[in-house]
Amino acid sequence: MQLRPYTPADAEATLRVFHDAVHRTASIDYTPEQITAWAPEDIDLAAWDARRRASWTVVAVIDGHVVGFSDLTDDAVLDMLFVHPDAAGRGVARALVDAVLAEARCRSQPRVTARASRTARPAFERLGFTVDGERPHNEVRGVVVPNFDAHIDLLPAAPD
Ligand SMILES: CC(C)(COP(=O)(O)OP(=O)(O)OC[C@H]1O[C@@H](n2cnc3c(N)ncnc32)[C@H](O)[C@@H]1OP(=O)(O)O)[C@@H](O)C(=O)NCCC(=O)NCCS
Repeated sequence: MQLRPYTPADAEATLRVFHDAVHRTASIDYTPEQITAWAPEDIDLAAWDARRRASWTVVAVIDGHVVGFSDLTDDAVLDMLFVHPDAAGRGVARALVDAVLAEARCRSQPRVTARASRTARPAFERLGFTVDGERPHNEVRGVVVPNFDAHIDLLPAAPD
């Protein structure tokens, strides 16, 4: 697996990862209505690309295929963490989160926050995040899609 910075050429592949991760993996924990609101079929690719470029976005590649991505916003939020279901359970999320936390340490951020889905909650906890509480009224496109606030406190980077 390789990790590299997102480029606009990754827009379609990351959108596919997002779509399939939500529709196939997260659908275990959410209703069809919630899944459709979260990952509708008609997401505009240019707007998607602009959102990915607005954050520090990292992609994971296996055999030349983008299999996952994550990001860090300027205000130290890990906003996106999606791994294609065909690549699940192989440490892709762990590698992506490690990269995001390394970037946050480079920026001297003391804490990274995240919003974890029901599906991702166990992975976030396993990766060292603390879950602060549920957001039962979280809305996506007018549909309630509950998730969780989570955070991880970072130790300063060790000197070389
Ligand atoms: C959550 C998600 C990103 C995990 O990706 P992944 O690549 O399969 O995760 P990894 O293999 O890197 O696992 C990371 C750690 O979490 C653990 N883990 C992952 N899923 C778990 C689960 N459902 N229950 C318990 N532990 C879990 C793994 O065992 C691993 O720990 P370890 O390295 O100590 O063994 C992926 O399932 C996904 O995209 N889900 C759907 C979309 C979603 O909800 N995204 C989050 C939006 S906030």
